[in-house]
Amino acid sequence: MSFIPRNPAYIFYERLLKSRILAGTPVEHVAIIQDGNRRYAREKGISRFMGHSLGADTTEKVLDWCLEMGVKHITLYAFSTENFNRGETEKSYLFELIKNKFVDLRNSKKIHSGGVRIRAIGRVEMLPQDLQDEISRAEGATRDYETMYLNVALAYGGQRELVDAARSLARQVSQGTIRAAEVDESLIASHLYPQNGVSVPKVDLIIRTGGDYRTSNFLPWQANGNECAAYFCAPYWPEFRKIDFLRAIRTAQTRGSGQQA
Ligand code: FPP
Ligand code: MG
Repeated sequence: MSFIPRNPAYIFYERLLKSRILAGTPVEHVAIIQDGNRRYAREKGISRFMGHSLGADTTEKVLDWCLEMGVKHITLYAFSTENFNRGETEKSYLFELIKNKFVDLRNSKKIHSGGVRIRAIGRVEMLPQDLQDEISRAEGATRDYETMYLNVALAYGGQRELVDAARSLARQVSQGTIRAAEVDESLIASHLYPQNGVSVPKVDLIIRTGGDYRTSNFLPWQANGNECAAYFCAPYWPEFRKIDFLRAIRTAQTRGSGQQA
């Protein structure tokens, strides 16, 4: 691989952004719609599978950036309920790729030294059993950590999450465990994914790569109920750079304040 020197202006801008971010109000929860793997692959003339693999490499880098910037919660949209409509070969490839990432995460020194708790959110029972097993292993190996939370949305759909919460609450009302009048925002929030333990908190920033201006049924309660910032950017997920990430964080910090990133 050839060494491409980085532009000094880029390095300077990255440092400047980083110091401004660290001096500003922390952006605690970043949610990311990782989009554009296949379009990237098409443009580069490589297979869509390679596009997904390169996308997963970006995911790894983003985790490093989150640790560096002190982001407390990161939630990644890795496989939506709509993604079940893709072809069998692509789904199998994605499930295998995601499974291998869970193995890597469980064995990663950075995860353990950084105190990162890994959790899957979504209808995990719809995923292949071997992937479910790896998810459980990674969750189990990190369950005592609380410095940072990595939530991976799999078989996830925002409306389905609300339906599941409503059903769970309705069951408790019919069993007499709670009264209908007790159902309020915090009780609903506590029935969202993951339903066993600390729920995913309100989102401060949603990032979407790949040029589309949509939030695609991602975390409707946690993001829309909160004045969450949205950062839509053109790069496809495999080419998402640290500078894009830092700009997104800075945008969330300065939203409404009139400051420039
Ligand atoms: C969207 O691009 C991407 C996906 C459906 C897969 C995302 C999954 C990963 C990057 C793996 C992350 C894994 C973990 C668990 C760390 P697209 O296929 O919709 O591409 P397009 O928009 O160009 O069609
Ligand atoms: Mg897409």
